[in-house]
Amino acid sequence: MLLQLSTWQEIEDYLKRSRTVVVPIGSNEQHGPTGLLGTDFLCPEIIAHEASRRPEADLLVAPTFAVGMAQHHLGFPGSISLRPTTFIAALTDWTRSLAGHGFERIYFLNGHGGNVATIEAAFSEIYAEASFDRRHAGFALKLRNWWDLKGVMPLANRLFPTGHGSHATPSEIAVTQWAYPDSIKAANYAPQVAPTGPIREALDFRARYPDGRMGSDPGQATPEKGGELVALAVRELIAEVEAFGREAGPG
Ligand code: NI
Repeated sequence: MLLQLSTWQEIEDYLKRSRTVVVPIGSNEQHGPTGLLGTDFLCPEIIAHEASRRPEADLLVAPTFAVGMAQHHLGFPGSISLRPTTFIAALTDWTRSLAGHGFERIYFLNGHGGNVATIEAAFSEIYAEASFDRRHAGFALKLRNWWDLKGVMPLANRLFPTGHGSHATPSEIAVTQWAYPDSIKAANYAPQVAPTGPIREALDFRARYPDGRMGSDPGQATPEKGGELVALAVRELIAEVEAFGREAGPG
């Protein structure tokens, strides 16, 4: 069940049977010569939407939080970034909106490694509001990167034993190819496997990684491999969200 395709009455009814919601979260940033700009928010969205269609899972998925920490990609056209303080403020308002309706388990499925530190900082800010008042928050927050769902990285390593890299990876590009076969791109990669190194500001990034990839060979991506990754991630997401929902309720 997708929140944006529901009415408020349907959400009111859902809250009578479940207090859990999944929020896909990512980033809109360049992903090399063949990766879609939306890759990092599309991957968690694809997995969460697929999970929400499974009849065995009564899963509510919120709108995708599509823009995150991408300042280092701003040297490439189309990248959009928030700064950390803006991101924390926006996450706080999203969370308080949902928690105010009675959601007690808010699960963020993340698609961008660069978001992790700031999402964790946002969680601390949000919990601190309750802590300083010595009251219960009334809700719990969870962050999971889609590639950290059980078994997903081992599968990615089997599918792509070399040239997986850390940005514009063949696994994330395969997932978008599976979901959007009409948007598959081709390019000649030179070198075949991109260089690795540090991440600093946008102009430094563009100079180090001229085509935008880091350590990866996305030419290995296929829609079929993406489908394998999605199928496994969907199964594990459903299991993990159910377990999160069954945790003892907040005091
Ligand atoms: Ni990515």
